[in-house]
Parts: sequence; structure tokens; C-alpha cells
Amino acid sequence: MLASEQAEAVLAWGVPQLRELPWRRTRDPWAVLVSEVMLQQTQIRRVIPKWIAFLERFPTPAACARNDLGDVLRLWQGLGYPRRARNLHAAAQEIQRLGAFPGTLDALRALPGVGTYTARAVLAFAFEADAAVVDTNIARVYARVVGRRLTGVQVQAIADASLPIGDSWRWNQCLMDLGATLCRPTPQCDACPLQSMCAWRCAGGDLALDPAIDSAGVSRTQSRFEGSERQARGRLLKALNTGSVRVSDAPKVMAHPAALRLVAALCAEGLVRNDDETLRLP
Ligand code: ADE
Repeated sequence: MLASEQAEAVLAWGVPQLRELPWRRTRDPWAVLVSEVMLQQTQIRRVIPKWIAFLERFPTPAACARNDLGDVLRLWQGLGYPRRARNLHAAAQEIQRLGAFPGTLDALRALPGVGTYTARAVLAFAFEADAAVVDTNIARVYARVVGRRLTGVQVQAIADASLPIGDSWRWNQCLMDLGATLCRPTPQCDACPLQSMCAWRCAGGDLALDPAIDSAGVSRTQSRFEGSERQARGRLLKALNTGSVRVSDAPKVMAHPAALRLVAALCAEGLVRNDDETLRLP
């Protein structure tokens, strides 16, 4: 775990300069959940306007649940990975059915699309509960500070033991900022509050020996977009935003050799409807 002097150094560095991000101004669990789902695979600068627009349109789980998935997908346009939108819509319906927003790790994890990371983020950032959040940036920080490659279970255990009780919201936000601004894949150790207390840095900070590499939870670079199936799927969803597409026109719209297989997959995932060889948003 991090020693108390390490934790204090992180808070002293981070609290006065926490990045101004709109979801940091709310404690509404729905708004926090939406931000965390969007931030999973999309950059902050793209998320900000979408998060604002999403919550204007769907300010509550009930508002989201009573709309069609197609309306959610239309708003999702540009964020990518649309299964997230489908899961969020399903989660809104489940919250509606439950009658209250879930408030425990297990109950949150039972929501569609909500894994350990997202559940802990909602606990910490909406309920200010004592939950240690481990995202890809935070996993990198811990691997470097302790100076060895970590499994997912190890990094979560270290994070749990390091959490300053009662200061979960600020602690997790500061660690996120540290991982996102200084403890990057190519780090800026000279500006880091932990530089004198970081095992990897004190051992020389050799990037070839970076313990974050192959530690569980540390991000790999996202797969190539140009020419990908993800791009082709995105082209079809974009076209469906404004109208229907005949199945026979899908290969042209998608510009991908496996277009028909991708259409079948999108239908199976519930992201596209096929009525009589005409494709629509659900
Ligand atoms: N990524 C995921 N959650 C975040 C948050 N609360 N602040 C900044 N980046 C994040």
C-alpha cells in the first residue's frame, strides 16, 4: 500500500489544481454513471459536450428509460463503442424497475454494463463512499510506485489499503489526475509529487523496465480505427441516425468487405433492427 506520506503528497499536489471537469461538480449518481461510461473508451474533450447534451435530454434514469434505444444511440453518435449506449439504456430501465439508484458495490455491478471499475467510480464520485477506483491510469501509478508488475487483484488490494478513509472523492480524483497528466506512459517524473517515494523512479525510471507494462488494468493502445470493423459499424449507425438503409445498400454505406456479417452482428446485439430487409435504429 501507499504510506501515509505518499498519500499526503498526492493530495497536497492534486487538491489545489484538480482539473475542472463538469462531472466533478455533481454528485448525482445518474450523471456520474453516464460520465464514467462515456469516459471508459472516449477522450475527455469528446466526452464533455456529449455528457452535457445527454443529461439535458435524459436528466434522470426515468427520462432515459422511457425513450427508445434509437434515441439514445442518436445522441451517442461520435462517441463510438455503441454497446455502451445500449447498456446504459438497459441500466436506466433496471434502475427504474428497482425504484431507486443502487447504492452498494454488488447492486451497482448487477446493472447492465457496470463492472467493478464503474461501480466503484459511482460509489466514490457520487456517494463519496470509501471505494478505491482503479482505472488504467491509476493501475499504472500503483505499479510504478511499488516498482513491480501487478495483477488486477494485487492492484485493487493495494488501492483498497491506500485509500484515505473519508477522503475517497478527492483521493480518487487526484490519483486520476496524476495518472492522466504526469504518470503517463511516458512520464514527467520531475514534476511528480511521488518522485522521491516511487520505487521505479528511485531505481532509475528506465522505460524499458517500466513495471506498468503488462500490469493488469494498464491500457494498451486502442486498435487502429481506419479500415476497421468498428469504423464500418460506425458508418452504418451514422447513416441510420437520419433514416433507414436497405440491407442491399449496406455494403456501399459501410465500405467494408464483411458488411453483411457486420449487419447481422449489429442486429444480434440489438443496435440495429432489420424489418423486411430495411435497417433502422431500434
Ligand atoms: N476518467 C474516468 N473518470 C474520470 C474522472 N472522474 N475524472 C477524470 N477522468 C476520468
